[in-house]
Amino acid sequence: MSEFYDFPKIFIEGQEYWQIEVVKNLKVNSGIAIKLGDELDYEVAVFWVNNEVFCLSNVCPHRHQNQIANGIVKNGIVTCPLHFWSYDLRTGENINKRQGTRSLQSFEVRIIDDYVYLKKPEIKLPKWRQLEE
Ligand code: FES
Repeated sequence: MSEFYDFPKIFIEGQEYWQIEVVKNLKVNSGIAIKLGDELDYEVAVFWVNNEVFCLSNVCPHRHQNQIANGIVKNGIVTCPLHFWSYDLRTGENINKRQGTRSLQSFEVRIIDDYVYLKKPEIKLPKWRQLEE
């Protein structure tokens, strides 16, 4: 896999954070997609809901589509717009196990001044993609 893009970096309590977006580009009670690198797996969905920011993988594990940022947000849950698998905004957990057991990876984000910072991620590749390598 290729590398991540070279975002501006800061350190908070010894942890590396990347400045991935400006706050004014976030959508209220909705998500935006941000590419962290050229690989599909390096795309995250950032949500600004009730003055809290959340970050999940943008790639739905159902059909591996980068659509989570376009999902329907309601009651702390984001629902993929394609076939309606639903995930906890905070943890990425699949909240309807009748649909499937696969969840989304979640990432730590913070707002500092006018920017969104992402804690340096460790992307966990889904099993189907690991087999491709
Ligand atoms: S691709 Fe998301 S539910 Fe099918």
